Amino acid sequence: MLTAKHEGAGNYHYHFPSSAVIVTARHEGKENAMTAAWHAPFSFSPPYYGVLISPRRFTFQLINSSRQFGINFMPLEQAELAAAVGGSKGAEVNKFEKYNIKKDSPVKTSVPIIKTAYAAYECRLVDSKTYGDHELFVGEIVAVHFDQKAFPGKGLDLSSGVAPLLYLGGENYSSTDKNITRFVDRQIYGQ
Ligand SMILES: Cc1cc2nc3c(=O)[nH]c(=O)nc-3n(C[C@H](O)[C@H](O)[C@H](O)COP(=O)(O)O)c2cc1C
Repeated sequence: MLTAKHEGAGNYHYHFPSSAVIVTARHEGKENAMTAAWHAPFSFSPPYYGVLISPRRFTFQLINSSRQFGINFMPLEQAELAAAVGGSKGAEVNKFEKYNIKKDSPVKTSVPIIKTAYAAYECRLVDSKTYGDHELFVGEIVAVHFDQKAFPGKGLDLSSGVAPLLYLGGENYSSTDKNITRFVDRQIYGQ
């Protein structure tokens, strides 16, 4: 029920929850990781994925220079890692060492892939554009990594035990539960 309204946006956060991912990047031996809640798929063919990053982030510089980035989809049990890399600056600290982040080898790029993710995309930058105080980086997905038991068919199967990390705003995280999952067929309901 909508019980309040006002003009303008204020500190708008009404679109939450959204999944919190960890963006990884690497340039000339320097690698980094940061949390992002502002990200989305843009196209199936070619497969494009976009993420919005403030120019104040160290990750921004690494992506701009290397023209590649990784998107790591994390489980709820990694919320502390998301808060750690989203609350520290890669310009000051090596987050992979400090937070003991385990890496997996990339397939087509040199971005670090996080071993504890349940899925990850390797992207090559195809476009970037400034929107207000953030930069939209759009990359072509050139390789994917995923937990096979979590993706047996179309989409994520929560009975696999994977609980995706959702961000609610502030310092609050949550997930989805297989007990509230509903199968709602668009062929039937779209008639
Ligand atoms: C849950 C969460 C979501 C965030 N989402 C974004 C985002 O979408 N874009 C962004 O630029 N920063 C976002 N941040 C902030 C960065 O992760 C944070 O500033 C980080 O310290 C940047 O690290 P870096 O300077 O090493 O790149 C988020 C932080 C948290 C905790």
